[in-house]
Amino acid sequence: MIKTAITAEQLFDKLKNIKLGGQTCVYSLKKCEEYVPIINAINELKEQKNAVILAHSYISPEIIYGVSDFVGDSYKLSKDALTTSASTIVFVAVRFMGETAKILNPDKEVLVPAALDGCTLADAINGAQVRELKKKYPGYTFICYVNTTAEVKAECDVCVTSANVYDITENYPNDKIYFLPDRFMGENLKNEMKRRGVNKDIQYFSGSCYVHEEYNIEDILKVRLEYPDAKIVSHPECNSVVVEHSDFVGSTEQMLAFMRTTKTKEFLMLTECGLSARLQSEFTDKKLVGSCTMCKYMKSNSLQDILRSLKNPTSHDRVVIDEDVRLRALKSLEAMFHYNYPPKRG
Ligand code: 13P
Ligand code: SF4
Repeated sequence: MIKTAITAEQLFDKLKNIKLGGQTCVYSLKKCEEYVPIINAINELKEQKNAVILAHSYISPEIIYGVSDFVGDSYKLSKDALTTSASTIVFVAVRFMGETAKILNPDKEVLVPAALDGCTLADAINGAQVRELKKKYPGYTFICYVNTTAEVKAECDVCVTSANVYDITENYPNDKIYFLPDRFMGENLKNEMKRRGVNKDIQYFSGSCYVHEEYNIEDILKVRLEYPDAKIVSHPECNSVVVEHSDFVGSTEQMLAFMRTTKTKEFLMLTECGLSARLQSEFTDKKLVGSCTMCKYMKSNSLQDILRSLKNPTSHDRVVIDEDVRLRALKSLEAMFHYNYPPKRG
């Protein structure tokens, strides 16, 4: 019997305040009774196999509150992947996040149980395209967002996440920067450098996130009229007009930290619904206004697939990276940890 068996009542207590519309994100005690046997079977297997579950905040709440050992944004999870002593990492998120864990932990088994491969940003560019761009932009430092495949990271100088893209770009000792693959984050990066008085030539690629590109200024103006005290919180994958009119912009973990520490009670969250679910579950004195959008890739993770992959991993679950690609991609991740500090000013 596992030490950490959970009851349907305990799970329901975590999920009962989540109401995001539709069937996926509304919970009843009956639904929790159905989840609990799978959750307890997963937690038992984790103990037997010395496995941990790393979960991105965008995945379904029954996974976050039922089986995850670490929850967070891409940066936090990559640090968690570095420090865990478990021999198996189940990365419940999207494939490139599992690849990042494997690049950092070549000797561990890394499993990604998601049914759908992909992310519109990671799919926007491949290694051959980066090589062509490098010929076109000699002398530029190639900065890749973490939402890229291992083969793209292998072609770049430094990797960044939404938590550190501005500081790393400011710190990096080159004034010529090519950022990829997100055009919105590229534009936001250019604007932020201008705001900070940092004079760099910033070029960027044309990819986008299909979830965040949906948000526009009308979403903000509507909420500002109806809820004048609400704070607007957005992700840097949103377009620059949305970012400019937001009260706070940051990674998903930074958004949660902002909401935890600010006294405001109402928030519009311009990011994937998983984060809104965390707000409803964890900050019960705060209220969500407006709507949110789901990422089909993140939401293609299920308790059933986690259990299946732990019991009997398929070649699709297993993350395998060519060693030459891994070593080159590792350099860009090591550069991220190296340059990730607040810039000195004044
Ligand atoms: P964060 O690193 O901010 O969690 O972002 C990941 C992501 O995929 C956003 O769409
Ligand atoms: Fe990719 Fe967008 Fe989904 Fe994040 S929300 S994983 S960037 S498609």
